Amino acid sequence: MTELQLKELLADMSLGEKIEQLIQFHGGFYGDVKLITGPGHDYTIKPDQQWRIGTVLGEAGYEHLKNLQDGFMEKQPHHIPTIFMSDVIHGYKTIFPVPLGQGAGFDPELTRELAEATAKEASAAGLHVTFSPMCDLSRDARWGRCMEGTGEDPWLNARFAEAMVLGYQGDGIEKQGNIAACVKHFAAYGAATAGRDYSGVELCERTLLEDYLPSYEAAVKAGAPLVMSAFNTINRIPCSTNKWLLRKILREQMGFDGVVISDYGAVQETVVHTSSCDKADAAAKALKAGVDIDMMSDCYLSYLEEQAEANEELCRLIDESCLRVLELKNKLGLFEHPIRGSKELEDKYFYCEEHKELSVRAARESATLLKNDGLLPLSKNSKIVVAGKLATSTNIVGSWAIFAEADKTVTFADAVKRRYPEADVEVYPCDEADEALLAACKTCDAVILCIGEEDDKTGESKSISDVSLCKAHQTLFDAVYGVNKNTLSLIYAGRPLAIPMLAEKSKAILDAWYPGTFGNIGIWELLFGDANPCGRVPMSFPYTTGQLPMSYSAFITGRPIGEWKGFVPFASNYMDVPNTALYPFGWGLSYSEFAYSPVSLSSDTLTADGKITASVTVANKGSVDGKEPVQLYIRDVKGSVIRPCRELKGLRKPMIRAGESVTVSFEITADMLRFYNEDMEFVAEPGEFQVWIGGSSLTENGAAFRLV
Ligand code: NOJ
Repeated sequence: MTELQLKELLADMSLGEKIEQLIQFHGGFYGDVKLITGPGHDYTIKPDQQWRIGTVLGEAGYEHLKNLQDGFMEKQPHHIPTIFMSDVIHGYKTIFPVPLGQGAGFDPELTRELAEATAKEASAAGLHVTFSPMCDLSRDARWGRCMEGTGEDPWLNARFAEAMVLGYQGDGIEKQGNIAACVKHFAAYGAATAGRDYSGVELCERTLLEDYLPSYEAAVKAGAPLVMSAFNTINRIPCSTNKWLLRKILREQMGFDGVVISDYGAVQETVVHTSSCDKADAAAKALKAGVDIDMMSDCYLSYLEEQAEANEELCRLIDESCLRVLELKNKLGLFEHPIRGSKELEDKYFYCEEHKELSVRAARESATLLKNDGLLPLSKNSKIVVAGKLATSTNIVGSWAIFAEADKTVTFADAVKRRYPEADVEVYPCDEADEALLAACKTCDAVILCIGEEDDKTGESKSISDVSLCKAHQTLFDAVYGVNKNTLSLIYAGRPLAIPMLAEKSKAILDAWYPGTFGNIGIWELLFGDANPCGRVPMSFPYTTGQLPMSYSAFITGRPIGEWKGFVPFASNYMDVPNTALYPFGWGLSYSEFAYSPVSLSSDTLTADGKITASVTVANKGSVDGKEPVQLYIRDVKGSVIRPCRELKGLRKPMIRAGESVTVSFEITADMLRFYNEDMEFVAEPGEFQVWIGGSSLTENGAAFRLV
């Protein structure tokens, strides 16, 4: 349709019809057309009204969506098709590593491929939009949803966010094989106070703008046509009624011209937040703030029409929002092709060989080797005991694998049978050490302990106050370690757990995160040395929960440890643990050893519109090929406001053959050095900068330059 035709369509719609386009219901409204159950039963829905709403949540499957769409096309007075949206955040049927695991992959290009594969499966099943990427930066492992994001770093999160959008949307959201991305949760949901889901967010404006917003902005700039407003508050105003956030920051400053959809019930929750008086007030506030679609509440549905009849501003805003929804439908090509997918495409893509391979590769790349005292790789002739319930669990794919079949998930115990049928592996799927297990452990070459947390222990509304390894797994470890020191801790988790005891005693630690449907096959390939670990810590591992939130890029205080020269050592420290992470951002081991040359700079002076090149040569001194995430960090030595002690500004992940070396170069421009100065101007301040290039945020391989 042309813009003119869309406007003509809008002009022909009644006020009620326009408002209906601004509503999203979930599938519970469509089981039996006459029976509306669940949260909807107290909505004042008119007969057949659920068949006229603009968008539907959480339903998928080609046949099913085709039937639903036929219903919409028949009953909507202008035969306007609906949009099918759902959470497909790390795979549709074939599940890939959770986003935090992808973050550990330190390879946004691989993530783009995963999003592309996800889009093929999801669009085969009739979906138009996915509620992904989840761009919420998180520095607090207590937050159950940190698993849905790619970690603690603003720059890296931004690269992942844009990679996901590009992967989902491919060569156009109107095409079969692609889906549109919805950026969420705008904004700063990951900074929930004390890591408790849905709690308020208290951030200074600079931290919000510099650290939390870049990933959403990157996703918007990559072309995502939808943004979801978050549950939390910003500046004490719920995001879904926050005009400053949605109109000024998102639309004006970031230039977003697409559709804003609220999170589930978030508009009506502003009444519970106490900043809206009632649902009518919430509806008016959300619309004025810039929320186009009300997901799963009846605020717009039941409380807008009457208010709007006597209010020109609301009428104008309803028109604007409705036009945006119609434009999105047009961009999705729905007026020409309301139904996406087919039975043939579902058969072709679901769990196909190519996606299976990708799932195995992604798990190999994301698993992070935290410690290795020579135990890994294991010899294929060794006698191995595997212990722990997680060894036979299918709960290792992560939340939002809502359309996947659990019985397709290859457990750790099954994976070895499939990939290494000859291996001498005995499995004891118990979390308590009994006599049989201990006897087996005594006589084997190595014990692999599958520990951590099953994936139903993390996710939405699953925050925890203590991120230590659970007591049962600590006890299991101690018992096994008591009889065999060759103990490998294989961790499955959706967060960086506090594991100081494992760090001290385990012979090796491999964090598999949640590796997805076929990922365990890749984990065995790493363990047996058919692949070389190359994952990196995406979110710092604390020694203890009390250190949270934490990040490698913290600020230097007025009294840093060891540097304050006062009479008494009143430093910014803890009396019981270090300030630093147990395993910091960017950390991870390999079976190769990589040696870095000193950083060479093309010049020690950078001009405002110039660039300099920082290079290193990285040599693989080991005997196996390996990938190395080469990381560029920069520090602004003095600023008009305090500056982080270092920030990631560049990344490459080259494959370096054994005995060979590669040169890696990064361009540095003044643009990369900008921040909000004392007067809240986004500028780069002249002065001295330090730059480091190395294999983790701990690297001291540095050089210096001046910005003039
Ligand atoms: C609530 C979650 O916060 C959000 O991430 C999700 O997209 C919606 N529900 C829809 O399922």
